[in-house]
Amino acid sequence: MYCVRNITEDLYWVGGSDRRLALFENIHPIPRGVSYNSYLLIDKKTVLFDTVDWSICRQFIENIQSVLKGKPLDYLVINHMEPDHAACIEEIILRYPNVKIVCNHKAFLFMHQFGFHIDENVIEVNEGDTMSFGKHIVTFVAAPMVHWPEAMVTFDTTNGVLFSADAFGSFGSLDGQLFNDEVNFDRDWIDDARRYYTNIVGKYGPHVQDLLRKAGTIDIKIICPLHGPVWRNDLGYFLGKYDKWSRYEPEEKGVMIVYGTMYGNTEAAASDLATRLVEKGMTNVVMYDVSKTHVSYLISETFKYSNVVLASVTYNLKIYPPMLAYIMDMKALNVQKRNFTLIENGSWAPQSGKLMRELLGDMKEITILDNEISLNSSMKEDDVDSMDAIAESIIESMK
Ligand code: FEO
Repeated sequence: MYCVRNITEDLYWVGGSDRRLALFENIHPIPRGVSYNSYLLIDKKTVLFDTVDWSICRQFIENIQSVLKGKPLDYLVINHMEPDHAACIEEIILRYPNVKIVCNHKAFLFMHQFGFHIDENVIEVNEGDTMSFGKHIVTFVAAPMVHWPEAMVTFDTTNGVLFSADAFGSFGSLDGQLFNDEVNFDRDWIDDARRYYTNIVGKYGPHVQDLLRKAGTIDIKIICPLHGPVWRNDLGYFLGKYDKWSRYEPEEKGVMIVYGTMYGNTEAAASDLATRLVEKGMTNVVMYDVSKTHVSYLISETFKYSNVVLASVTYNLKIYPPMLAYIMDMKALNVQKRNFTLIENGSWAPQSGKLMRELLGDMKEITILDNEISLNSSMKEDDVDSMDAIAESIIESMK
């Protein structure tokens, strides 16, 4: 059964949601599912903007058929070639053999790499090119590395709709609601939106900044991303979040304590620090067990808070492996502009603090606060003054 929504009088959402997939990109947990958005414009010409993941292809085809009502499909614009959006290109060509695929040269090359047979159907476009479909005139804007090198966005100059590819997307299925004003985004969606951005596009902040600069020169009325809600009001809220995330600025003054514990002693020390912070007036504190929290959530929270405390047991004379994985992911995603505090623990040769300090050393614009602590197996009365000094130094760093 088809399931479509009108966005404007002649633009339709024809995507769908996958609520059964456990791991997006086979890495990131998506307990709330994910939507794959595609949009169909009915003008003198009919134009489909991107396809969907293979998992919802049947729904997608029914949606397109219900909107076209027997009309031919004239154009398929490909803004992004990652298979969660491009998997159904050949299926579209099989059903609409006269469709012309509009894409840039890199996307064309990627289609070949993925084994699509599309040569005679392709119209290549470049940054700044325009196309008229009747009433609607669109312009193509390059958005390299947001999130792949071929990525572009398409702006409909007639009605102000921006087809933004991965930008402004979010994890989470669309459960009937399509528009940002049909959900409580700041309550129910922002954490998944941040986790999507930081883990998928987070590495490419400067490229997102480039796109935001270009977006600032056009009069955007509606943002149609490839995942998550369509934005038709309050655009400044989400543009502001993207600006902050892509500049690697923390959203909040607060402390994220990530601890790696084997028998609870490092966790107890982390709890002691959290309590001291709260008692000293810094109540915005969160604690995460690095062994139990998927790293995608840790990355998301790292982008949110100004201060990060890493409390790690020493394991085989190294950093505790899950903590090491988290630090390596932070580095891979280009995390910057944070204050770090280190707590090490060990029973015979504690050195996780020294190793973490070395590992963090080449991250951009970070500060590793001088006050740190080395515990022998567990925190004791003798360690109280040092832990208190750590709490003070964290609060001082926020001023
Ligand atoms: Fe949703 Fe980069 O694909």
